[in-house]
Amino acid sequence: MHIDLRGKVALVTGVGRGIGREIVTTLAREGVTTVSVDVSATDLQDTSAELDATGTPHREFVCDIRDSARIGEVVQAVDEAYGRLDILVNNAGVVGNGAIDVMDEATWDLVHDVNLKGTFLMCRAVLPIMKRQRWGRVINAASFAALVPIYASGAYASSKIAVAHFTRALAGEVGPWNITANAYAPGMIPTAMNGFAQLPPEEQSRLLDTLSLRRWGDKADIASLICFLASDHASYITGTLIDVSGGKLASQMPRLAYEAAAADGDYDFDAAASE
Ligand SMILES: NC(=O)c1ccc[n+]([C@@H]2O[C@H](COP(=O)([O-])OP(=O)(O)OC[C@H]3O[C@@H](n4cnc5c(N)ncnc54)[C@H](O)[C@@H]3O)[C@@H](O)[C@H]2O)c1
Repeated sequence: MHIDLRGKVALVTGVGRGIGREIVTTLAREGVTTVSVDVSATDLQDTSAELDATGTPHREFVCDIRDSARIGEVVQAVDEAYGRLDILVNNAGVVGNGAIDVMDEATWDLVHDVNLKGTFLMCRAVLPIMKRQRWGRVINAASFAALVPIYASGAYASSKIAVAHFTRALAGEVGPWNITANAYAPGMIPTAMNGFAQLPPEEQSRLLDTLSLRRWGDKADIASLICFLASDHASYITGTLIDVSGGKLASQMPRLAYEAAAADGDYDFDAAASE
């Protein structure tokens, strides 16, 4: 199976760093013309420099996805420049932690405005182009927190399950135009958002013990899924929430398998910790 995305145009949000930067540079290396959106002008410049190296056409826009007027300008500029927009990846997101009895309203509003309303505003702006061309792929970042919340994630987890349900609602509306809409749920991927890789080794080990594949997720794990979902190979997949968590729900106590493998001499916890 060969994934061929050449000639497509993709808009990806939240590409200044982290998973978003990996997604947009991967798409560019696959020959996709990319449109990058981020709220941070300096981070966007760094991403732009990486995109230069791919040799594929690209444009960058500083844009807060809570700002519907600015989104309108960006999408109009893309339409004028390329006359099409095939793939929309709503990757931008923020966390705002806090137990519910002490959470301030500003945190709640920020998390829901960026993660949920921003996703809605982007979709609303892009759909007329996708409908016109009778082809489109909308791919939205949910989170494993949408499946199982973590402590003090009331705002974040509720925003992400809302993204997943919003995506299903969208899929149910846009099928007649050959547009698919899917969401994905990353598990634990070290980025600036979470700092997993900076945790003390014993803390990292404790978290890895919750994963059947017992390694951190890689940003490329997400970028590969995006390429698949954007391709013709995924043309019959819509309205899903895809778990990309290394098996957080696969087993009640994943460590048992590793202890058994270690007893057989087939797994080395010390070597894994130093990787
Ligand atoms: N890293 C993980 O383990 C993980 C797990 C589950 C879900 N996710 C989701 O994946 C996505 C990317 O996560 P990440 O870890 O790369 O995060 P990150 O914080 O490293 O990057 C987020 C990017 O979004 C941008 N952004 C934030 N608010 C914005 C706004 N209002 N408008 C435009 N851009 C904005 C930031 O400037 C940044 O470049 C997020 O939606 C996140 O919730 C990540």
